[in-house]
Amino acid sequence: MDSCHSFTLGENRIMSFTIIDAAPARLNRSELAVPGSRTELFAKAAAGDADVVFLDLEDAVAPDDKPQARKNVIEAVNDLDWGSKTLSVRINGLDTHYMYRDVVDVIEQTQGRLDLIMIPKVGTPADVYAVDMLVTQVEDAMARPKRIGFELIIETALGMSNVEAIAGASGRNESLHFGVADYAASTRARMTTIGGPNPLYGVLTDAQGDAPRDYHWGDMWHFAISRMVVAARARGLRPIDGPFGDFRDADGYRAQANRAAALGCEGKWAIHPGQIPLANEVNSPSEKEVTQARRILEAMAKAQSEGQGAVSLDGKLIDIASIKQAEVMVRKAEQISSAG
Ligand code: COA
Ligand code: MG
Repeated sequence: MDSCHSFTLGENRIMSFTIIDAAPARLNRSELAVPGSRTELFAKAAAGDADVVFLDLEDAVAPDDKPQARKNVIEAVNDLDWGSKTLSVRINGLDTHYMYRDVVDVIEQTQGRLDLIMIPKVGTPADVYAVDMLVTQVEDAMARPKRIGFELIIETALGMSNVEAIAGASGRNESLHFGVADYAASTRARMTTIGGPNPLYGVLTDAQGDAPRDYHWGDMWHFAISRMVVAARARGLRPIDGPFGDFRDADGYRAQANRAAALGCEGKWAIHPGQIPLANEVNSPSEKEVTQARRILEAMAKAQSEGQGAVSLDGKLIDIASIKQAEVMVRKAEQISSAG
């Protein structure tokens, strides 16, 4: 059997004899965090250009404000025009006493507009199972017509050590998010900023006589992001990079977003509206990339009609794997243009 005909990126993905269903196709280039206690930000978030907005009940909301934030968020889900955005609510963690009421109140008291729930500090697959059980009961009791999907934040040592099992823990799972600040705290990494490089993490070139030595900064989050990307992709989920706190540093943000995209992430959080266009730009294929992908597909179609599996294009090898890479690019471009 010709393997390229068995490969589809639409409803499911074939990576072996095992077929993995892909999460519902959603644009997730930018994901704006909006504290549930700051109602003055809601309309701005709804009118902005983020692909996904999450209204936060967790760490951006002080403990005393939790009940009011819950009410605010319910009202905002019901009353504001969120257009074609994906709308999510970040609930509190399973280690708090806020979480059950977050789920019950938000799902009982909102209509169908809510798309996703974001679960922070997921540590084990049982965490996801527990929330799934609760969500399922409320959905059934309310006869909600639309199933709520899950976004899971991987931001603890326990969560990262169980990331593969977590990714497969519920049919509601849609995406995994790298929560860099909590992850740094949980692993006791020596840094206090939210995202970004760490000057402590680098290598000094060897001493060679009197020649000056160079210090090269490395990306201390490479392993964590890469591990999460693989776990997400193996289950058909979207891997998304988390926040970058220095919201006045556009170049720094772009660099962080680019390196996450290079590893396979398809989006990044924005904690400030200024970061939304940067995330959208970085996570959209450029016209040049899409044109090249279409050329590869044409060249491979021609090669295959001539019975060849590998040919050269512009002096470089392309083969059946190139079709898959090019299809990812073209499909993403089509998704973006159909979202307008
Ligand atoms: N969503 C929507 N609008 C936002 C916003 C957000 N997250 N953050 C800022 N804005 C708006 C401001 O209201 C302001 O609007 P205006 O021009 O109409 O006055 C504009 O964007 C510029 O904001 P600015 O004055 O530069 O920022 P700020 O000092 O008001 O707020 C933060 C800075 C970081 C406190 C704020 O952006 C924020 O709370 N971000 C979310 C943090 C969060 O959710 N963290 C948890 C996840 S990591
Ligand atoms: Mg966190």
